[in-house]
Amino acid sequence: MNQDQLKQDVARAAIDHIAPKLNKDSVLGIGTGSTANFFIDMLAELKGDFAAAVASSDASAQRLKSQGIEVLDLNEVNELVAYIDGTDESNAQLALIKGGGAALTREKIVRAVAREFICIADESKWVKVLGRFPLPVEVIPMARSYVSRELVKLGGDPVYREGVTTDNGNVIVDVHNLSIVNPKELELQINQITGVVANGLFAHMGADVLLLGRPDGVETIYPN
Ligand code: 5RP
Repeated sequence: MNQDQLKQDVARAAIDHIAPKLNKDSVLGIGTGSTANFFIDMLAELKGDFAAAVASSDASAQRLKSQGIEVLDLNEVNELVAYIDGTDESNAQLALIKGGGAALTREKIVRAVAREFICIADESKWVKVLGRFPLPVEVIPMARSYVSRELVKLGGDPVYREGVTTDNGNVIVDVHNLSIVNPKELELQINQITGVVANGLFAHMGADVLLLGRPDGVETIYPN
């Protein structure tokens, strides 16, 4: 079974998880990436069972619209029933590293408004200690060098993600070689650096449930 099949399995599991919670007024938050794309395509089956969606990126908004799903601006919405998104890593507390697709800031905002964060991922994303995947940090362009020097002081090796501009007009610095034993503390420390817009640690507002795709089935994991 390949990785794409596992991603499709968890997208299907998320559809099954969310379907009973929807009504005609429900608005869903939708993430970004290849796993989220499988979910978006399957969500078309539930059209009519919910009102609309809010997307965490322009790319996901386009995909939702192409499936005939109405996309709202987050400012028009008081609450999202759930936020469904992939991840780059998860630990057993369901603290995450996200932002491989450079959408981390909007993902954090949409997640903050959601009642429940349903994370969907194949088993390659499951780790004991976060940090094998380089931690993405969204930075105001003129602060890139300064922020990078500060990230070195925190023990990481920052690398500018060349050629990438976020939907917010900023740049991404990926921090390599971190072993993140206290994700909540590091999330706050990085947020304190002037010029940082957001970092890809979702520890203070991690996932509420992780649907993890394994070759023998989808495991439902709650925070440890
Ligand atoms: C985008 C993200 C994605 O959720 C993350 O990169 C996982 O992507 P994929 O489902 O393609 O493996 O955080 O910013």
